[in-house]
Amino acid sequence: MNRPRLRLLAGLLAVLAPAALAQTARTGTVAKRYAELCANCHGDKLQGAQAPSMLDDVWLAGGDDASIEKSIRTGFPDKGMPAWGNAIPDKEIRAMVIFIREQRDLARRGQVQFNKPADAVTTRSQLHDFQVDTWVGGLKEPYSLAFLNPDLAVVTEKRGHAFLIEKGKLAARPLLGLPVVDTASQAGLYDVVPHPDHARNGWVYLAFADPKKDADGKPVSLTRIIRGRIKDGALIDQETVYQARPEHYIKAGGVHFGGRIAFDRQGFLFFTIGERGQGPHAQDITRPNGKVHRIHDDGRVPADNPFVKNPEACATIWSYGHRNPQGLAVHPATGEIYDLEHGPRGGDEVNLVRKGLNYGWPIISYGMNYDGTTLTDLTSKEGMEQPVTYWVPSIAPCGANFYAGDLFPKWRNQLFVASLAAQELRRLEISGGKLVAQEVLFKELGRIRHVVAGPDGAIYVLLPERVARLAPPPATKS
Ligand code: HEC
Repeated sequence: MNRPRLRLLAGLLAVLAPAALAQTARTGTVAKRYAELCANCHGDKLQGAQAPSMLDDVWLAGGDDASIEKSIRTGFPDKGMPAWGNAIPDKEIRAMVIFIREQRDLARRGQVQFNKPADAVTTRSQLHDFQVDTWVGGLKEPYSLAFLNPDLAVVTEKRGHAFLIEKGKLAARPLLGLPVVDTASQAGLYDVVPHPDHARNGWVYLAFADPKKDADGKPVSLTRIIRGRIKDGALIDQETVYQARPEHYIKAGGVHFGGRIAFDRQGFLFFTIGERGQGPHAQDITRPNGKVHRIHDDGRVPADNPFVKNPEACATIWSYGHRNPQGLAVHPATGEIYDLEHGPRGGDEVNLVRKGLNYGWPIISYGMNYDGTTLTDLTSKEGMEQPVTYWVPSIAPCGANFYAGDLFPKWRNQLFVASLAAQELRRLEISGGKLVAQEVLFKELGRIRHVVAGPDGAIYVLLPERVARLAPPPATKS
């Protein structure tokens, strides 16, 4: 065979290689555009060729999003970088920046060693050494954990079960009397949270995807909040504290239920409902989805909620423009409320949630569609709030909690974030609504759904089939 034909064959093989196919499928439109317009000069993996690498964190003209967008839009024609502003719409230039960030992160993953803890092995981190040991095994997709007292906890599983854990021992049978739960796709049983005065009144709150039939008999569901007391292995005295109007329920199963609950320091109950895949609903205050809500502990609507005077609005709404808030945490020192939102491809957010404000979804976002097409080139807009921080590429944040215990003094008042896709436990230091520092404490023990500070000062991490306890390593004898 002559040379050109050999090369053709090799080229064909490369195109047909499954890995290459998978890569295209995963990265979609934006990757194709990069291959067509940029790869010639910047290299097929962004590694650099006659033009600089985009993986090395060296930026000649600024490495923040706006500078990179400007470099692409206006180019450096006298140095051989064309201006792309006329050829590529603004929205897609934004998608290109996200793509560059993703590729850099992928390249970096191969180089950086993250902690992967094992039972009884000390793991080091910036401020504290720790150890991650299995506390309770034999679970299936545990979603939330609540300590009712130092010896008794409740754990929920996405598939609709909850179990008591007494002195670290999982009950043989699930709690009886739980409501029927929609568990298709992302639907399930979500948060469990005790009343702040649980020791006196015994109330425990649950969030779940509540299944119903619509007027045509088709299955629909939406996040509902109930409370009850636990007695003799059952949930009794059940009361609904929040339930949307039937016409606001959406086709059962599907995506984005939210489902987190948190009490603030005044005792108000906050909870989240994701937009259920209906982006525009997040901007519509006559609908409950895509919102953070605020009610009294018994379900009454507080008289000072932001939209109570608007007869069309859902009176329980506290803030809107949220995509899928899967985490909700109250700062122990300031009482501020933070939500963690699972974004689209890129654009996961931490927001400081304030009364009546609009957090912008789906009008503004730092992410793009999963297929690599653009969602919006707007990352900010008058009248819409900016996140405290965002992640591009996505880590898929889920539950989060601030730490206020005694075992890790340097971690006090810092936010611990569970991530699904990136399988990371992150530590975020936030001060005055600004991100000050961030660290990946460990990685790759599986998807993490929640992280809870226990009454013993340890940090409990909900992994795919177990709850692990993160605590200081046992003191070494000297
Ligand atoms: C014909 C070659 C060529 C093509 C095609 C090309 N670039 Fe460039 N690009 C360059 C050169 C050369 C530079 C460095 C300019 C300089 O030295 O200031 C550059 C610089 C850049 C920078 C700034 C880098 C920095 O360090 O600040 C970005 C971002 C960039 N290119 C993105 C792209 C994107 C996205 C595409 C495709 C849409 C693209 N380029 C296509 C040649 C090219």
